[in-house]
Amino acid sequence: MRSITLRLLPPIALALGLLLALIIGLRPVIADEPAAGPEREDPRGWSKGVPAAAVQQALAAHAVVPVDLPAALARDITQRTALFYFSPTCPHCTAAMPEINALAKRDTGLKWIGVASGASTEEQLLEFEATYQPAFELVIDTDRSFAAALGARSTPSLYIARPLRPEEDTSGLPPAQGFGRVGIDEAYAPFGRGAGGVLLLRSDPSNPFKHFGGDYQGETTCGVCHSEERLSMAITHHQAALWTLYRRERHTEEPCVKCHVTGMGAPGGFVMGDLGHPMAGVQCEACHGPGGPHDGQRQDAKTACVGCHDKEHSVAFTVEKGLPHIDHFKANHMSEAELHAALAAIEEGSAAKPLLAFPEGPTVGAASCKSCHKKQHKWAKGDPHRAAMARLSEGEDAQRVECVRCHATPKAVGIGAPRSSPADFRVDEGVGCESCHGPGAAHAAAPNTDNIVGLGDSCPECVIEAICTSCHDQTWDPKWELKVRMAAIPH
Ligand code: HEC
Ligand code: HEC
Ligand code: HEC
Ligand code: HEC
Ligand code: HEC
Ligand code: HEC
Ligand code: HEC
Ligand code: HEC
Repeated sequence: MRSITLRLLPPIALALGLLLALIIGLRPVIADEPAAGPEREDPRGWSKGVPAAAVQQALAAHAVVPVDLPAALARDITQRTALFYFSPTCPHCTAAMPEINALAKRDTGLKWIGVASGASTEEQLLEFEATYQPAFELVIDTDRSFAAALGARSTPSLYIARPLRPEEDTSGLPPAQGFGRVGIDEAYAPFGRGAGGVLLLRSDPSNPFKHFGGDYQGETTCGVCHSEERLSMAITHHQAALWTLYRRERHTEEPCVKCHVTGMGAPGGFVMGDLGHPMAGVQCEACHGPGGPHDGQRQDAKTACVGCHDKEHSVAFTVEKGLPHIDHFKANHMSEAELHAALAAIEEGSAAKPLLAFPEGPTVGAASCKSCHKKQHKWAKGDPHRAAMARLSEGEDAQRVECVRCHATPKAVGIGAPRSSPADFRVDEGVGCESCHGPGAAHAAAPNTDNIVGLGDSCPECVIEAICTSCHDQTWDPKWELKVRMAAIPH
């Protein structure tokens, strides 16, 4: 497991690292809500929160930072100007070029200049121009004074500069010989993919949604205002859905990927093969539609679930069962340490998962299935699950509910079903039929295929694996592999 995690580090750890920096940085200060009568429980099972609580903060005018740039460059800054600091040979910079070029071509009122890092040569720059066709002029920071003035440490970075008004120049001293003073308004340092949406959003605070067309914007953009929602979503498995495929080396299979990312194939949506794409994972717009409600198109998010959580890939899913687990304000009530732990658990794959696959209800016990399913019962005699309780030493572990919960079938399945003592489990049968097929009281009374989890037509990875790994977790089965384990329990 360890070696797999390490091998995976480069693309995704980087993305998650950036994500962490971005979302923690954007955490809003939440004002106390006015006391308004008795506290109402949210019918969705969500924590208290206010949508877009950070919107004021995000779009509010912020202080301009005066800096002295080389005079030749400062003279060019006669209006709001985007300074793209890059190295022509850095792979992150070349990867950012399509987004940067697209931004430069939009009507943001910004002028664009590319500043190549001091180590760049003329030849490298010519080659860069020929390959990436930047829509703006390029200069080299030969004496590195640009980097020094801005404290620029990483490429690519993007700085928004503008002429400084006299009253904004608080230094009291004139600029040094050969320099000119400008103001820095915004900085994207480093420039993470998808941050262009934030830039567009801020380019006209009086009309922040100007650039929301029918395209996908990405959670970085939504999170500028909805930072609580963004943080809370980052600690669910939706966030890691592509990562889940990557771990199993299934991320190149298009039929799998479409439900594990956002907007595949649509404008602004996920592009196959691009693991670091800003639309990786199941994001805001997978449920709220591209642009959310802000482009005038409203989509009831509750209707979006079944597009992915269908019978084959999430058998007994219901919106009611799923909703409490996508609490948009959960992070509001966590400390910084708890939040970091929760993010790390998602990244490592050790976070707990709700099992959505089972219908709810009482179980009846394996003996009740026997009369009609003789074939499977004969098989069950040789199945290791039948002996699971015998593994727990009599009197000791067999009395510990923390062991019994995976070694026996519960007497009832569902939210609020008791799980506090071994008496709540069928300790006589071990891991019985209903541990994998769900509660069968209704089915045993009136057998049909709709009132039992059949599993035969289910997606093995999305459903069967989720059921098995609810017990075969990283602690108890670190070498888990679906194909191998399935082969060992044939019916
Ligand atoms: C410029 C700030 C801003 C950005 C960016 C933004 N929102 Fe909003 N959003 C708001 C505000 C303000 C509200 C209204 C909150 C209220 O009514 O209390 C809102 C409300 C919502 C609502 C709930 C209300 C409704 O009408 O259904 C949803 C859903 C939503 N936004 C989704 C999104 C998504 C998805 C994105 C990214 C594509 C996004 N928002 C980007 C500011 C923003
Ligand atoms: C674009 C497809 C897609 C949509 C739309 C979608 N889901 Fe999911 N959902 C997934 C995938 C894929 C996973 C499994 C992710 C993993 O384990 O890597 C998942 C996992 C979950 C989980 C487990 C989360 C956790 O943190 O363990 C819940 C709960 C859930 N979805 C609820 C919902 C609800 C409720 C809706 C609708 C409001 C919804 N989903 C919409 C694809 C989707
Ligand atoms: C129709 C949409 C859809 C398709 C196609 C799809 N998945 Fe999923 N996948 C989901 C949903 C929804 C979940 C969450 C299921 C749940 O928790 O009930 C999920 C969960 C998973 C999980 C997590 C299971 C666990 O241990 O919790 C894995 C692994 C997975 N899918 C792999 C795959 C692979 C491999 C493919 C291609 C063969 C695939 N998925 C195709 C929707 C889909
Ligand atoms: C898995 C699906 C899903 C994802 C992903 C998701 N949402 Fe939602 N969102 C919902 C559902 C369902 C509701 C509740 C709608 C309702 O109550 O009718 C909701 C409600 C909201 C609301 C209104 C909150 C309120 O208190 O009523 C806002 C704002 C919002 N979402 C923004 C976002 C943003 C921003 C993101 C990404 C960071 C996001 N959502 C991700 C499904 C989702
Ligand atoms: C999360 C579910 C889970 C919990 C909780 C759990 N087990 Fe298990 N246990 C398993 C699984 C799955 C296996 C089979 C692992 C394998 O062989 O691949 C297993 C196997 C065993 C075995 C036989 C194999 C071995 O590792 O020696 C013993 C003994 C055992 N468990 C004892 C316990 C005890 C004692 C506890 C309580 C402290 C406990 N289990 C709690 C899931 C669990
Ligand atoms: C460890 C999990 C597990 C247990 C325990 C289990 N099953 Fe299954 N069962 C499966 C899976 C997975 C499938 C679908 C894949 C397959 O056909 O092998 C399945 C398929 C079935 C089918 C569909 C037809 C068939 O034979 O393929 C029936 C009927 C069935 N099981 C009945 C039972 C009965 C009755 C018991 C108890 C005696 C039982 N199962 C115990 C996992 C389990
Ligand atoms: C009274 C007889 C009877 C009892 C008792 C019974 N079943 Fe069934 N079961 C059936 C019949 C008949 C079918 C086939 C239904 C069909 O094909 O329409 C079936 C189908 C199934 C299937 C396959 C469903 C599918 O989608 O393919 C599973 C799994 C299953 N039963 C499990 C169980 C389990 C677990 C129990 C005990 C809790 C149980 N059954 C008790 C008669 C019974
Ligand atoms: C309710 C918890 C639970 C579920 C669900 C479950 N198992 Fe197990 N499984 C166990 C326990 C506990 C053992 C250890 C039994 C023993 O060693 O006596 C075990 C043992 C095994 C073994 C033998 C030991 C080994 O590692 O080779 C296999 C194979 C296995 N399970 C496969 C599966 C598969 C495949 C699924 C899903 C279809 C599944 N299990 C679902 C709890 C579970």
